[in-house]
Amino acid sequence: MSEKTNRFKIARSFGSASSSYDTSARLQRYCGKHLMPWLPNRNDLTALDLGAGTGFFTELLSSRYQQVIGLDISKNMLQFAKDNRNSSIHWLEADAYKIPLQDSSVDLVYSNLMIQWCDPLDLVINEVMRVLKPGGLFVFSTLIDGTLIELKSAWAQVDNDQHVIDFIPESEIRPLFDGTNRKLLNAKQQDIVLEYENVLHLARELKSLGASHVPKKQGKGLAGKDQWQKMTKSYQSFLEPSGIYPATYKAFSGVVVKLSD
Ligand SMILES: C[S@@+](CC[C@H](N)C(=O)[O-])C[C@H]1O[C@@H](n2cnc3c(N)ncnc32)[C@H](O)[C@@H]1O
Repeated sequence: MSEKTNRFKIARSFGSASSSYDTSARLQRYCGKHLMPWLPNRNDLTALDLGAGTGFFTELLSSRYQQVIGLDISKNMLQFAKDNRNSSIHWLEADAYKIPLQDSSVDLVYSNLMIQWCDPLDLVINEVMRVLKPGGLFVFSTLIDGTLIELKSAWAQVDNDQHVIDFIPESEIRPLFDGTNRKLLNAKQQDIVLEYENVLHLARELKSLGASHVPKKQGKGLAGKDQWQKMTKSYQSFLEPSGIYPATYKAFSGVVVKLSD
């Protein structure tokens, strides 16, 4: 699948979830709030929320900074954000690979749980560095390898298809943030284990977040009944004594500074 088609499908998948997203976004809220202590304290700044989604964190940024831009590839996400958030925010429907802003025009780029959707990731990081002013900060969170390991291994018992997106390892992400014009100032890895009543609960949550598009999946549409039953049976090996189904999310967050040329 071409990168353009893939991004169109990601946008469509998130777009279809714009009205259900906020009620399901427990991981996203946790990770986004976790980035707050890293935000600069000055308020005369221009901030960009990259992959703003429904704009929950864009609005928080707008209560701190003079000028705030929320950018997302999904028209529906942006429409939801426009209808529900502070009217002072400037919204941009655009791709993180081609940010429609001038070089060195932004003091802060905040991005919560968006860059795991970007492959190849280095091009997006270069684009972030292009729009940041020297001395500007990129504050981000993402998901790395090991995320949804239970779901991945349960599906691996059923077929060879890909049912969970590829998350890159921390060892591949870190070098992207250290270069001639950038430096990783601070980083943190956290395992977050969310609890589900059953596997259907997990699948429904992913769908209502718009996070169910898997670019490299061969088979089209939903799994057949037999495959689904086999997978859920296999997932039971992770069942906790309390009857809860866990799902692991490996979050990696950090602060990168753009160095002067
Ligand atoms: C998991 S949501 C996170 C939304 C928001 N940051 C939050 O914390 O709730 C990921 C968002 O990234 C957007 N996105 C994915 N790929 C993108 C791209 N290439 N350019 C811009 N936005 C993108 C999706 O449309 C979606 O709204």
